[in-house]
Amino acid sequence: PRTYYFSRHGESEFNVLGRVGGDADLSCRGRKYAASLARYFNDAGISGLHIWTSEKKRTKQTAQNIKAPKEHLAALNELDAGICEGLSYEEMQDKFPQEFAWRDQDKLRYRYPWGESYMDIMSRLGPVLLELEQEDNILVISHQAILRCILGYFLNKKFEELPYINVPLHTIIKLTTFGYKCKMEVIKLDV
Ligand code: F6P
Repeated sequence: PRTYYFSRHGESEFNVLGRVGGDADLSCRGRKYAASLARYFNDAGISGLHIWTSEKKRTKQTAQNIKAPKEHLAALNELDAGICEGLSYEEMQDKFPQEFAWRDQDKLRYRYPWGESYMDIMSRLGPVLLELEQEDNILVISHQAILRCILGYFLNKKFEELPYINVPLHTIIKLTTFGYKCKMEVIKLDV
């Protein structure tokens, strides 16, 4: 069996404001989650634990106090919302109503102008997914859209389902794989 742990970064200042993308710091609650997460993993004493984060401040800050080697991968950065980076969904609907409607109609294939789609994420994640399959006792700290795609891959979800998989904040998702079988546990931490 192989064991994988996945978590979104702790709540960021942009999550508080309902804004997408960007490179914000963790909020006060987000920092509390980082502390709980560090307590969880430092107490668990998982042998060979290692961490992959994205290159964004919020995932690095979330990993900061966990005692384990870390790598920061651009492939784990959040979906690039292009011209909509830094906007709230209300602002998007206001400034780019046609774009907003198109995304709603086909969230999987919709590509933000100068940005990415969920399908684009699946192709950029390809090499990471292949490497991940060879890993064990790894913690991946990334972002909502990215973790939807990674979890969907391991759980054999249809592409169409990927953009809607529920990956809540402040929650560890533990996957144990046995050959082609996969067990999922959800661990909610107090913040
Ligand atoms: O709101 C947080 C966030 O990670 C954004 O940065 C990103 O654009 C969004 O979630 C992805 O979720 P959805 O595809 O549902 O908009």
